[in-house]
Amino acid sequence: MKKTQLSLSTRAIHGDKLYAYKGPVSLPIYQTTNYRFDTSEDAVRYAKGDPSVYVYTRYHNPTVHDVETKLALMEGAESAALFSSGMAAITTGILAITKSGDEIISTPALYGGTYRFFRDELPKQNIKVHFLDPENLSKISNVATPKTTLVYFETPTNPTLALVDIAEIVRQTRVAEKRIGKKITVMIDNTFASILNQDPFSYGVDVVTESATKYIGGHSDVMAGVVLGKSEYLTKVRGLAKHYGGCADPFAAYLLFRSLKTFELRVERQNKNACILAKALEKNKNVNRVLYPGLPSHPQHKLAKKQMAGFGGMVTIEVKPSKKIAPVEAAAKVCDNLKIAVNAMSLGGVETLVSIPVYSSHVFMTDDELKRHGVTSGMIRISVGVEGIEDIISDFEQALAMI
Ligand SMILES: Cc1ncc(COP(=O)(O)O)c(C=O)c1O
Repeated sequence: MKKTQLSLSTRAIHGDKLYAYKGPVSLPIYQTTNYRFDTSEDAVRYAKGDPSVYVYTRYHNPTVHDVETKLALMEGAESAALFSSGMAAITTGILAITKSGDEIISTPALYGGTYRFFRDELPKQNIKVHFLDPENLSKISNVATPKTTLVYFETPTNPTLALVDIAEIVRQTRVAEKRIGKKITVMIDNTFASILNQDPFSYGVDVVTESATKYIGGHSDVMAGVVLGKSEYLTKVRGLAKHYGGCADPFAAYLLFRSLKTFELRVERQNKNACILAKALEKNKNVNRVLYPGLPSHPQHKLAKKQMAGFGGMVTIEVKPSKKIAPVEAAAKVCDNLKIAVNAMSLGGVETLVSIPVYSSHVFMTDDELKRHGVTSGMIRISVGVEGIEDIISDFEQALAMI
């Protein structure tokens, strides 16, 4: 049986250690910065590209390598590179595709860190980003110029949980490629959905990136990121990672290895809990809107059913405005009165987390930018955990009753 025919969970647990493999059941941590050479000739062999010679952990590390192999196998990629954070993965992955003078097409609803990198940093390197609203994807082929090298997007988007049609993005990009006569890379940040719920490679996406700090890590205790794609591209990414230095730490890699064993169990439970919570909150009189792709009321529910295998663990609610209290104050009051759900940034952990986008991920955005991102001040983003969902529902009900 081919390894890629095994179920996601089997690949996440065993990686490529199957059949005749003899060795430790768990993953040894190579907590070392450098490696002894057999003879001095090893240095030359390494310089000539012999992958069996280990030199220095910023370049490669056996523990990190094992997790990269497992992630590539799980996500159906030829190769993967692990980084010290999602942002290190995203920025290095993008800079391996673009150079001064190039153009990127993206959508405005991005993770705040990525949006600010596009808005504030890339222009300094003479790389221009065109933001297209997701409803206008058909314009990709008009907006693309011979300088366009990358189309970059996220779906579901943070924090509004709007969807971008992956098949349409790929289709429109291929039309644009034909028009300009050159390759444009399509890259997605698949953090919010994770591979269990959404398989971008099956739609012809070229590069997938993820903050492994979230669902892959899943325990709010490890920072990491991953870039996945074709081997030729990953060789470039690794080359650049040596310069930018965002390499993954061996202990972080070990924690991910451990987390991957329960990846499917956790995410399945998060999907289920999120769906139950979203339905319950939709009935709450102090909630104006519940945004969750799995709800029939979600404007893109049909697309969600087409492109997602599960609807994910992220739910966003908007508290009902009242004359007594401003929306952001009402959102803060709910978050401050939760007894089980944790008022903390980040997402994807086993514990339910809440955050107010205008106070956290979107705090530095202008009113105009917030409007373009569809973010309102009464929104609370919920990363649903794996707790008993009845406890979480009661917790939200008592906190919402305070406003
Ligand atoms: C969708 C998304 N992408 C990327 C990142 C960045 O990941 P990290 O914090 O691991 O650098 C985040 C962080 O919240 C995120 O939500």
